[in-house]
Amino acid sequence: MNKLLVYVVLTVFLISCSKESKKEEQTVVNKTWWKEGVLYQIYPQSFKDTNGDGFGDFRGVIEELDYLQSLGITMVWMNPFFESPLIDNGYDVSDYRRILPRYGTMNDFQDMLDGMHERGIKFVLDVVVNHSSNEHEWFKQSSSSRDNPYRDYYHWWPAEKGRPPFRHSLFDPEGAWEYSAKTDAYYLHYFADAQPDLNWENPKVRQEVYDIMKFWAEKGVDGFRMDAFQFASKDTTFPEWPKGHEKDFIKWYGMRPQLHDYLKEMYAEVISKYDIFAVAEGAGSTFKDAHDLVDADRNELQMAYHFETVDMSRTTEGYTLAHFKEVFTKWDKAFSENGWIAIFLSNHDNSRLVNRFGDPSPEYRRVSTQMLNTFLLSMRGTPYTYYGDELGMTNIDMPTIDKYVDVSALGDYGMAKAKGEDLDAFMKELNYYSRENARTPMQWNDSMNAGFTSGIPWKQINENYKDINVANQNEDPNSVLNHFRKMVKLRKENEVLVYGDYKLLKAEHPDIYAFTRTLGNKKVLVVLNFTNYDSSIELNEIQQIKEVMVNNYATTEISNNSLKLKPYQAILFKLN
Ligand code: NOJ
Repeated sequence: MNKLLVYVVLTVFLISCSKESKKEEQTVVNKTWWKEGVLYQIYPQSFKDTNGDGFGDFRGVIEELDYLQSLGITMVWMNPFFESPLIDNGYDVSDYRRILPRYGTMNDFQDMLDGMHERGIKFVLDVVVNHSSNEHEWFKQSSSSRDNPYRDYYHWWPAEKGRPPFRHSLFDPEGAWEYSAKTDAYYLHYFADAQPDLNWENPKVRQEVYDIMKFWAEKGVDGFRMDAFQFASKDTTFPEWPKGHEKDFIKWYGMRPQLHDYLKEMYAEVISKYDIFAVAEGAGSTFKDAHDLVDADRNELQMAYHFETVDMSRTTEGYTLAHFKEVFTKWDKAFSENGWIAIFLSNHDNSRLVNRFGDPSPEYRRVSTQMLNTFLLSMRGTPYTYYGDELGMTNIDMPTIDKYVDVSALGDYGMAKAKGEDLDAFMKELNYYSRENARTPMQWNDSMNAGFTSGIPWKQINENYKDINVANQNEDPNSVLNHFRKMVKLRKENEVLVYGDYKLLKAEHPDIYAFTRTLGNKKVLVVLNFTNYDSSIELNEIQQIKEVMVNNYATTEISNNSLKLKPYQAILFKLN
């Protein structure tokens, strides 16, 4: 053994050079529960089924409330569960005040909500109001005649003006305008043709939305996640756009200045009246946009999430750690003064966390997921964890298009085909990035259907469920699950991890992401090896190490100012 190296077991690791800092306690302004919380996202269709129909339901969530509490999480965001024809799995709402029977009744919802509140867990509702379903009564009325009072609830282009200027749709290879013969006009749909965009310029539409939000706030929900909200305000003169506008997609498709007015109105009408917060999906196209959305002095939204990180991980080419560090560092800087962002690496629109950012192989799945969860839970911003990522659930293998049911996957396939792309290469990519990967049923135990349902699951269960499941991991102190719990606890007990300033160290290091979090006299050093080999880093902060707060390996290897990390090793050190 190299004499210079000192192996220290984590429990006894202590460096004697601890001198108490004389710094005053730093005062944190604008403290709130939603900044201090840890959010867990539930895709209700896939969480737990109690009536054997193969779809998750509210009673299933109720059965697992103690599990949620055991994670330590303090908020749940649930994807939409409203009445819907399910063209986009619930992101096409046909009645915002009614629950899709497959999930249960309003009483079941109330029981679930009460059960969460009893356990100190807040509830975040998905508000899908950039568009509705074409089966919503508003759209039925709107499309029935040109002089119907609901006509202006949506965007219509009369056919006598010729074809409307082209708009790309995120889901429809034919574009975002759909012809409707009944009134000889085209309506706009940025997503599927069954998801017509609502006209936010119409004050009646806005009032309808605020009333819906109040309806749910009165029931006791604690937060709103505003789906696709940057698209709500668009240029409704619908001009032709210059070539190349796709490069700056959001700027052209949404984020018109009026969005801020709508949000201020929403704040005055709804948010300010309750102890509630709203988080926007998407954060505009510039930092200024993003910051204006959540600047505490502007009274618009309270939190936003950007897509730069998940976007970098969407192809099989993978991402670079340098890019990863750069993105998180610049977003942290932009929000360090006033504002707040969500920190997330996965959700229902992306494939599994460990496949995109870690290593799903049996050898490294455990440690690499632990490392990623360590990152999520030690950054500044509210951490969002997607169900199953606390276990290291992985992608499934769906190499051929006939297996796919998701409107987005089918749309992408249609677009690739229309452009004459190499479909074999396309399928390889789709199999990697498709969001269907992340919608497979929760893996509770190694019994039939992973304990998710006694019926036929709506979506195939990942075949690795016998190995990766809650029951197994509960028993293992070194499991991904127990490491997740440890990290959540640590975050909740150490305010520095919530509010502390973030400082990137050794930005140029190709393998290791190292940073500090500092709040008054509290300082934490975070070191994460993003590779599947040993790697070392020299840091002056090593001299200040007081104790190991968490480590996904049993040992810590330090020599002088150098720290050597094992594959995907992740350590948090308390400094002084
Ligand atoms: C964003 C949601 O996250 C996604 O799942 C959905 O398909 C689109 N918005 C359309 O609502």
